[in-house]
Amino acid sequence: MAVRELVPGILSVGVVDWDRRLFDGLIPLPQGTSYHSYLVRGSEKTALIDTVDPTSEFEFVCNLVRSGVDTIDYIIVNHAEQDHAGLLPLVMELFPSARVLATEKCCDLLAALLEIDRTRCDPVADGQTISLGDRTLEFIHAPFVHWPETMLTFERESGVLFPCDLFGAHYATSEVFADGVEGLEPAAKRYFGEIMMPFRTTIAGHLTRLESFPVRVIAPSHGPAYRDPGTITRLYREWTSDSARNLVIIPYISMHGSVGKMVDHLTSALMEKGIAVRPFNLAITDLGELAIALVDAATIVVGTPTVLFGPHPTVVSAVYIASILRPKARFLTVIGSYGWGGKAVEQIKEMTAKLHAELLEPVMVCGAPTDETMRALDRLAETIAMKHNDILMHPSQESGS
Ligand code: FEO
Repeated sequence: MAVRELVPGILSVGVVDWDRRLFDGLIPLPQGTSYHSYLVRGSEKTALIDTVDPTSEFEFVCNLVRSGVDTIDYIIVNHAEQDHAGLLPLVMELFPSARVLATEKCCDLLAALLEIDRTRCDPVADGQTISLGDRTLEFIHAPFVHWPETMLTFERESGVLFPCDLFGAHYATSEVFADGVEGLEPAAKRYFGEIMMPFRTTIAGHLTRLESFPVRVIAPSHGPAYRDPGTITRLYREWTSDSARNLVIIPYISMHGSVGKMVDHLTSALMEKGIAVRPFNLAITDLGELAIALVDAATIVVGTPTVLFGPHPTVVSAVYIASILRPKARFLTVIGSYGWGGKAVEQIKEMTAKLHAELLEPVMVCGAPTDETMRALDRLAETIAMKHNDILMHPSQESGS
């Protein structure tokens, strides 16, 4: 790994994790990730902003040695999660006079999660500044981005914002800056969908607040930094807005072909009406791809066979994930089949109650789909087209969820 200059006086001492393929035992990382940490050297004092995941301890310590740093006065912890704070105990041991600066809630979490000496952690207030001599760090509390203890740090003289997870992307690259990095936008959208989407209304508020800061560089803790902050803030404005796309996503499972035929028919019917459609066969779906589609789809159609009395367990898992991600979808329905009864529709309705999406008439069939089933799917496509037309023609009537 290498130590690079982010801007004069600020070194990137973080680590690129090229091989990591799973996060939290759940989130696929097809493009690896990175854990950034920054050394801010002022004329009088030095601060380290965040650490890295403990799996990268060796590379991180090598970077600290390569940086030539001999004293760290402050360790800024923007977020207590392991991939950023995991090596805090080690850094505290290496630099025993360093003070840890974090929100009060973060200090509590660091003590609970990492068993650090709480007396070395100084809570900082929202808007508080510290001077490093010729550099000033300002702390911006940003609760629920995506944990309640989170803050952002702004270095005033260079205009660098360190937002930790916010604006990040699980994308391993040797580039310090995002300029010209191929495929970064989809990776950032995937990251937003998987991690930030449940907090999109809160994040929209933080975006507004950040407009008053003269930010020249955004340096998130995952993925490259942005020399043009508008590149990523414009995308976040779009993703956090209530505006949905003319897009239907159909996460589904088919056990013996019935649901598959229904999905195929509905997909064609929607396409004929000029509606973008994206079926996701959950047997082979990368959950990140589903999360990307959930960011702006107007309608979710869940396709499920019936297993015993309820939806297929794989569908249950996907619907649960979709419901906790709180997408902006305005409409939701269920299509599927059953043999001798069941409660698939009722259970999916219960699981998605918090989405505040309007429930459209489900299409369930006993056994194999019939001509009448296909006509019901045609009517569903017609209804979706009408609903989408309404929200596209009258976007101001949309409400947040
Ligand atoms: Fe990158 Fe919430 O940790």
